Amino acid sequence: MNIKHLNENLNTKYKVLHFDTIDSTNTYLKENHRKLPSNSIVVADMQTLGRGKNNSQWFSPSGGLYFSLLLKSSSPNNTILPIITGLAVANSLKKYSINCLLKWPNDIILENKKLGGILVESKLSNEYESYIVGVGLNLNSILPSYAIKDKFVSLSGIGRKIPSKEVLLSDIVNQISYIYENMNYSDIISDYKNYSILIGKTAYIVNYESDKTLIKVVDINSDGSLKIEYPDSNIIKNIYSGEFSIRGLEGYI
Ligand code: BTN
Repeated sequence: MNIKHLNENLNTKYKVLHFDTIDSTNTYLKENHRKLPSNSIVVADMQTLGRGKNNSQWFSPSGGLYFSLLLKSSSPNNTILPIITGLAVANSLKKYSINCLLKWPNDIILENKKLGGILVESKLSNEYESYIVGVGLNLNSILPSYAIKDKFVSLSGIGRKIPSKEVLLSDIVNQISYIYENMNYSDIISDYKNYSILIGKTAYIVNYESDKTLIKVVDINSDGSLKIEYPDSNIIKNIYSGEFSIRGLEGYI
C-alpha cells in the first residue's frame, strides 16, 4: 500500500499506521487503544490471524483490504456503528459501479456471496469507550476454493477491479465520519435499507448454540436492530447485532 497516496486522500485528522503483515488490525487496536488517539487507522497488506464475527477466521491474503479505525466516544454506539460502516462501504463501492447489498448487520454481499465483513469491537476506558471498527474486503484476494464454494467472493474472482485501494480506504473512512457526525439515526437507517438484502425474506435465525428457528425479517428499526416475526405464532421481536446470525433457507443467503 502506498501510504503517501493514502494520506493525500484522507482528512488530516486521521493518523495511519501501516503494517506489511500483522496478526489482526482489530487486535492491534484492542491492545493499543489507550496510547493512540481517536481516528487512528491501522491498515495491513496481510493478516495472519484475521478475525470475523463469532470467533470465526477472516481469510486475509495479500490483495485484500484490511483496516481498523479507532473511534473514542462517550456515547454508546455498538448498534449503530456496524450499520454506519456497512452504509459507508456500500456507498463507496457504488462509486466504482460495484453494487453490493448489505446483510444485516454488516456483511457486504455481491452476487449473493460475501465480499466483505465488518467487525466492531469496544473496549472500556475510564471516561470514554474505544470503538474499533474493522473492515475486510476481498478485492484482489485469491481465496481458498472451499471458501468460494461455501459463501465468499472476491472482486478479482469475478473479473472486477477497484482502481485504487488507497482511494477506496480513504473514501470509506471519510464516509464513516461524515455519516457519524452529520446524519441522524432515521436517515442512516433509511439509506441503509436501500441496500438491505434481508427485509421481507424468510430465513433462519441462529443462536450461539447453532439452534435454528424459522423467521421472517420484517424491518430494520430506527435504533439499528432487526425486527423479525416468528411465522408460527406471529410474535414480533427485535434482535441486536452480535446476538444472533441470520442464515438463508438453503445456505448463506
Ligand atoms: C465478519 O464478517 O465476520 C467480519 C470480518 C471482519 C474482518 C476485518 S479485516 C480487518 C479487521 N481485522 C480483523 O481481524 N478483522 C477485521
